[in-house]
Amino acid sequence: MLKIITEIEINKKMIDFFKLEKTMKKIFLTLATCAVFTFNANVFAGDASAGKAKAGMCSACHGANGISANPMWPNLKGQKAAYVSKQLKAFKSGARKDPMMAGIVAALSDADMDNLGAYFEGL
Ligand code: HEC
Repeated sequence: MLKIITEIEINKKMIDFFKLEKTMKKIFLTLATCAVFTFNANVFAGDASAGKAKAGMCSACHGANGISANPMWPNLKGQKAAYVSKQLKAFKSGARKDPMMAGIVAALSDADMDNLGAYFEGL
């Protein structure tokens, strides 16, 4: 009798252990996923030197160093890469409308926009 009870207890403990293991696996997977997203956020930065190569066509309005001479054209020097890239994508999709920028972004790929963001952030 005592032996049976002990076996039942042991089985319960084993089940608890496996439940815990499952929970730990879930936690681990969640952490791993977060780590991947953090990593992507860093990678997102883009390639500043590739951005520089494309930035020539921006300087007419936004200035050679990202500081514009015209009050209607925003400065881009030091602007956050993610913001610049997001705005460029918005101009391209039409979510943000500006006749000048619409013409400019038409020829840019997503990677070009990320690279331009990295370039202006680094100025
Ligand atoms: C013909 C002039 C012109 C050229 C060339 C031009 N832009 Fe612009 N850009 C503008 C104007 C005007 C605005 C402001 C639009 C508005 O008022 O919404 C603007 C806005 C922006 C913004 C949004 C800034 C903010 O603070 O929200 C970004 C980013 C930008 N331009 C990037 C670029 C990049 C990168 C290039 C080159 C690939 C470029 N522009 C070329 C005129 C120009």
